[in-house]
Amino acid sequence: MTTVVAVCGSLRDGSYTRIALEHALRGAAAAGAETELLDLKEYDLPLYDPDADDRGDSEEVKRITREADGLLLGSPVYHGSYSSAFRNFHDYCSFDEFEDTAVGLLATAGGGTYGVTLDHMRSTVRGVHGWVVPHQVGIRNASGAFDDDGAFRDEDLRKRTEKLGRVVTDHAERLRD
Ligand SMILES: Cc1cc2nc3c(=O)[nH]c(=O)nc-3n(C[C@H](O)[C@H](O)[C@H](O)COP(=O)(O)O)c2cc1C
Repeated sequence: MTTVVAVCGSLRDGSYTRIALEHALRGAAAAGAETELLDLKEYDLPLYDPDADDRGDSEEVKRITREADGLLLGSPVYHGSYSSAFRNFHDYCSFDEFEDTAVGLLATAGGGTYGVTLDHMRSTVRGVHGWVVPHQVGIRNASGAFDDDGAFRDEDLRKRTEKLGRVVTDHAERLRD
């Protein structure tokens, strides 16, 4: 079975990125994937140190990432780019983890701009041979994007986010073939 793992690059309780990734995972599940949320908040991932890269839960995080056929990567917009939590995960996960893996990107912004964050994620993932799909999701004014139950207020955005899961599942299946 095709496996799709979502990686949440926010450590915040009630993270909008995490909520959005859960919608994307729903799209992946509807497309037939086995899904999992890799919530970095639940893992001990010390700041990456090239002299000691086998620390905390890093081996488990790398294994989950490596074994996934598809990845949904989400980051909040931090200072116009991605978060340090996302970057730290990325420094642990390189060619071995991303090779032959379909990747979908998602970013949430407090303000109105997320394009640079998605571009930075696309560029760094391509750099380790991840197959980043063209479809991507940016969520502006994230604090107003969801209701109290975590449902999207904007129906188009919900569809676009679920589509990200479907597209990644579809490409992951092709890469497996
Ligand atoms: C350190 C930091 C930097 C931020 N920088 C930006 C920024 O440059 N542009 C922006 O629109 N929002 C910025 N924000 C707001 C976050 O992008 C926004 O709150 C996002 O939805 C948080 O995602 P989360 O709920 O998944 O943690 C920043 C937030 C933090 C904590």
